Amino acid sequence: MTVYNSGRRRFLKHSALGAAMLALPDWLPASSGKITGMATPGFKPDVALEFFAQTAYVPIFAGGPETAVQKYVARLLKGPAQTLRHLPDNYLGPVLNLQQGQKVRCYFNNRLNEPCIIHWHGLHVPQTSDGHPMYSMPPGRQYVYEFEVLNRAGTSFYHSHTHGLTAEQVYRGLAGLIVIGDEQESRLDLPRGEYDLPLVIQDRSFDAQNQLRYPHGMPQRMLGFLGDTVLVNGKPNAEFSVKSRAYRFRALNGSNSRIYKLGWEDGAPLTAIGADAGLLEKPEQRPYIMLSPGERVDLWLDFSGRAVGSRLIMYSLPFSGVMPAMYERMSGRMGMMLQHSLPQGGKFPVATFRISEKVGDSPALPEKLAAIRRLTESDTDNARNPLPIAMAMRPMRPTLNGKSFAMDRVMDFEKVSLGSFKKIRIFHDRSGMGMMAGGHGMGGRMRRGMESGSQHDGQEDGGHMGGNMMMEMAHPIHLHGQQFQIIGRNAMGVNANSYETVRHGFMDSGWKDTVLVMPGEEVTIIKPFQDYSGLYLYHCHNLEHENAGMMRQFLVG
Ligand code: C2O
Ligand code: CU
Ligand code: CU
Repeated sequence: MTVYNSGRRRFLKHSALGAAMLALPDWLPASSGKITGMATPGFKPDVALEFFAQTAYVPIFAGGPETAVQKYVARLLKGPAQTLRHLPDNYLGPVLNLQQGQKVRCYFNNRLNEPCIIHWHGLHVPQTSDGHPMYSMPPGRQYVYEFEVLNRAGTSFYHSHTHGLTAEQVYRGLAGLIVIGDEQESRLDLPRGEYDLPLVIQDRSFDAQNQLRYPHGMPQRMLGFLGDTVLVNGKPNAEFSVKSRAYRFRALNGSNSRIYKLGWEDGAPLTAIGADAGLLEKPEQRPYIMLSPGERVDLWLDFSGRAVGSRLIMYSLPFSGVMPAMYERMSGRMGMMLQHSLPQGGKFPVATFRISEKVGDSPALPEKLAAIRRLTESDTDNARNPLPIAMAMRPMRPTLNGKSFAMDRVMDFEKVSLGSFKKIRIFHDRSGMGMMAGGHGMGGRMRRGMESGSQHDGQEDGGHMGGNMMMEMAHPIHLHGQQFQIIGRNAMGVNANSYETVRHGFMDSGWKDTVLVMPGEEVTIIKPFQDYSGLYLYHCHNLEHENAGMMRQFLVG
């Protein structure tokens, strides 16, 4: 973990501001907009940027009326010219290209007429530069970020994290890709330049005037928004004209709640070289790859030997079991309530690749990519007492650890000592009694039930359990700050038939920051909490769930 040590000095510089806030009794005054990040005189940026959140009109559909969107636009003030790559006619912000070790200062200016902030999803940065919703800036205000790029080479993204508005602002466009490079990666012969492309996948709904529709009634708040139009890199009917060689496609699921099962129609495997914010140890082949909101996967797509003029279609292949059993059983009627023609788990094309030119300069797939130190329980200080992340849908409100998000609250067990490595169990709370609210000393009965793998423990409240299980759904759980490793999935409680349609597509081997947990499933991770103290969020990246309060935070210190 020595790679992170360089960040320690940064932490010291930020701790003055952090400590002032943290020292306040009961957190009460840490409310929105009270703290404005300011440039630190001693901080010498290698890269300086200006970001604006503003409204814009972009031609999403050729010919038709332009679509009103919210967009991050940016200007490079200092640093390498390739730092920003603008995507023309797009609601997506520019691709932000950073290098490990760079010091970045970013002046964020809110030109919207509502609060806004930027979060760098996947980046390990000080709390004051993490875009915590407490820093949501009112219209006209500026927030200054300063951080050193500690991350390894990989793909991340930035998006709005505005208190109460995250889901809608991301939906209206406030997001963009982050590409990080490092020395280790530069020694590999990977596709670069025009052969290294974004694949940002999002679903949207439009009215007849090409304007975004964002219905958010009870069905969307409970299940998540699902659009009927799939956009790739901000465009419908995505088609890439490619040469007969290998490409690197940096796939990001930037959707609010839709989960994709990426694959070829003929069942040919996909090759991944990276997952979430980092390269894998070695390339991995999968019959398909599951990508839930917030997750990334770097795909190695090799079109070598394909005839000019031929085409390949990447699909989202059919799967089941991620929605509540109640919904899946009555999908027809609920489908109508959700007003979408593309159900979650349906089959549809994502992108077409058309071979336009024969070339012979393809790099070969490397055998080894990056060194990854495997974390084990012995790295943690709580192997026998893992931190819980208990997911529940209760009464008509998704929660974590029995609670909704509160800007100024942490529970006792959410206090984590700086520098520690924690084992964390992410599971569905089937107690039906909000037992998690008591924190770490979660109900012994439930705990025993989870540990023995029995899903039928506690018959005496079977009524609650039945109800909870009927509402259980898949949640993409995301943790801010440092990346984690997945050390186990326990599928004892899943629906075996549904699970079979997704389980071969989990990319669990690399460093992760978001993990999809299926109904009835339990995922165990190990997460380091090094370098920076402060508040680090954990939440469901189904953005309607996040918005409804399915978010909590760790206080690292
Ligand atoms: Cu991608 Cu807390 O976010
Ligand atoms: Cu994040
Ligand atoms: Cu969720």
